[in-house]
Amino acid sequence: MERRHRRSARALSRQVQFLLILSFIHHNIAQQIHYFIPEEMTKGSIVGNLAKELGLSERELKYRKLHSVSLDKMQYLIISADNGNLYVNDRIDREEICRKSLLCLVNLEAVMENPRNVFHISVTIQDINDNAPKFLNDNINLDTSELTLPGTRFLIGKAEDPDVGLNSLQNYILSPNQYFSLEVRERKDGIKYAELVLQKPLDRESEQSLRLILTALDGGEPRKTGTAHIWVNVTDANDNPPIFTQDTYTVNLKENIPVGSVVLQVEASDKDEGTNAQITYHFTNLPPTAKQKFRLDSIKGTIYLTELLDFEETEEYTVSVAAKDGGGLVTHCNIEIKISDENDNIPEIQLASVFNPIPEDSESGNLIALINVKDRDIGDNGEVTCYLQSDLPFKILPSSKNYYKLMTDRPLDREKASQYNITIIATDKGTPPLSTNKTILLQISDINDNAPAFEKASYSIYVPENNPSGASIFQIQAFDPDVDQNSRITYSILTSNIEELPISSCISIHSETGTIYAQRSFDYEQFREFQLQVKAQDGGSPPLSSNVTVSVFILDRNDNSPQILSPSPE
Ligand SMILES: *[C@@H]1O[C@H](CO)[C@@H](O)[C@H](O)[C@H]1NC(C)=O
Ligand SMILES: *[C@@H]1O[C@H](CO)[C@@H](O)[C@H](O)[C@H]1NC(C)=O
Ligand SMILES: *[C@@H]1O[C@H](CO)[C@@H](O)[C@H](O)[C@H]1NC(C)=O
Ligand SMILES: *[C@@H]1O[C@H](CO)[C@@H](O)[C@H](O)[C@H]1NC(C)=O
Repeated sequence: MERRHRRSARALSRQVQFLLILSFIHHNIAQQIHYFIPEEMTKGSIVGNLAKELGLSERELKYRKLHSVSLDKMQYLIISADNGNLYVNDRIDREEICRKSLLCLVNLEAVMENPRNVFHISVTIQDINDNAPKFLNDNINLDTSELTLPGTRFLIGKAEDPDVGLNSLQNYILSPNQYFSLEVRERKDGIKYAELVLQKPLDRESEQSLRLILTALDGGEPRKTGTAHIWVNVTDANDNPPIFTQDTYTVNLKENIPVGSVVLQVEASDKDEGTNAQITYHFTNLPPTAKQKFRLDSIKGTIYLTELLDFEETEEYTVSVAAKDGGGLVTHCNIEIKISDENDNIPEIQLASVFNPIPEDSESGNLIALINVKDRDIGDNGEVTCYLQSDLPFKILPSSKNYYKLMTDRPLDREKASQYNITIIATDKGTPPLSTNKTILLQISDINDNAPAFEKASYSIYVPENNPSGASIFQIQAFDPDVDQNSRITYSILTSNIEELPISSCISIHSETGTIYAQRSFDYEQFREFQLQVKAQDGGSPPLSSNVTVSVFILDRNDNSPQILSPSPE
């Protein structure tokens, strides 16, 4: 017991003793003595002196043999036969002896001999505040949904205090908080209990659990308290939809990324918990073009490529993804998938028109072909330049957009080169560049730009006299590098220096073969030599020709038989 408590208990005892004496005097006839003592006095404390109260002198006390007779097993109090004091003999706990009764008495009888006399001693045990209120359960768990409406009441356990009157439970106090208020209510039997009243809506997402302290107070002096912890567990309701980390996700993809690549990952979070926060993802309003291209992992939110992309087919896909929580709340986000061009298309070369063959006398700058180039890529990847592979007498120049002109660049000569393989190369500006080529086999057509040419600058023919008439004596030949008509040579005799006879009776030439025939038998004595001008003319238009001088010498013959010199020895 505390010192302070003890002192106040003693003061109280002194005060009641005084009242007791008055009571004893008053009740003398009833032979009843009444004391008031506080509970829990220390063993050996004096409750009162019976000798004094009964007016016994020290001598009387000795022979009258004052002693107690009690029917109770418990000897809470004893009387000293020596001095007549009433002592506390055992612990006097009011709560144990009387429980909740307001009036608590301990009775005993005092007996005196000579003459024998009996006194009733009645001791009122007064309550002191030696018990604090105590909660039956000092850890109270309260589970409540975050959707609980304000005004809802929660019955919290009660506290008990075995003391009585003011010393017993008087009130409850709740620790300050913004959600709950306390209402103290009283049962018919006077027992007070506490109720919590929800004042404002709860939100598990902002505060998942609350710790409140409920204090029970008694009215004693000093006041004693007991506390209980209230753990409020706010349980989840699906009051939050999933939220994407972005409203719109944008991604740039190269058109050549392989199938199976990760395109993008979307992510949504849900402030709820449990299944209310379990999110699944799926595409919504997926255009048919995108359906085969993308796959969405419904748990992870990862989008994969399932088919090759083609920038030239689709430059951008816009799809939306829904996130759905286990409670059925849905949120959407937009996804923009932009495809960037890669140099995956080879330029194409098309011949819009070709002038083939071209004559060899074409002027420089003559158009041979109009060429169209195309590349389905864009930007540098689609920008095409054209050039010729090798150094040929041709050039290629840009005409209009995507058109090039193939033209002659230098004079041509069919007789040197009658055809050309012109390889046109088209290259784009991608990295690495792609190129293609096309070859035109250009024919050069002939122009009659060459006159026939004789093998020799002049010819000499030796013919023995008395030759048979009509014998061929020589064959003359000219060449023309042109072709066809332009090289078809016709031979003829232009002039001769034979004055005596018409030339045709002396000599002739085959117009196609150039074979020269003697038309008569020559006579050495008549003339020994003569000259001819032979012309070779081609079939061109206009024709070209050239001439050559042929000298014919007649040889004298003696006794030898004549000999024909054909073909002539050169
Ligand atoms: C709160 O309540 C939920 C649902 O009843 C339970 O799963 C959870 O364990 C509780 N939390 C605490 C801290 O008691
Ligand atoms: C042109 O190419 C063709 C086929 O490759 C070949 O047969 C021909 O000889 C070439 N002509 C020239 C003049 O290079
Ligand atoms: C032309 O194209 C063919 C086939 O595409 C290729 O084999 C050849 O090397 C190319 N030629 C040139 C000169 O680029
Ligand atoms: C024969 O050729 C020469 C030069 O080769 C020419 O000067 C002359 O005019 C030609 N004669 C005839 C008749 O064509």
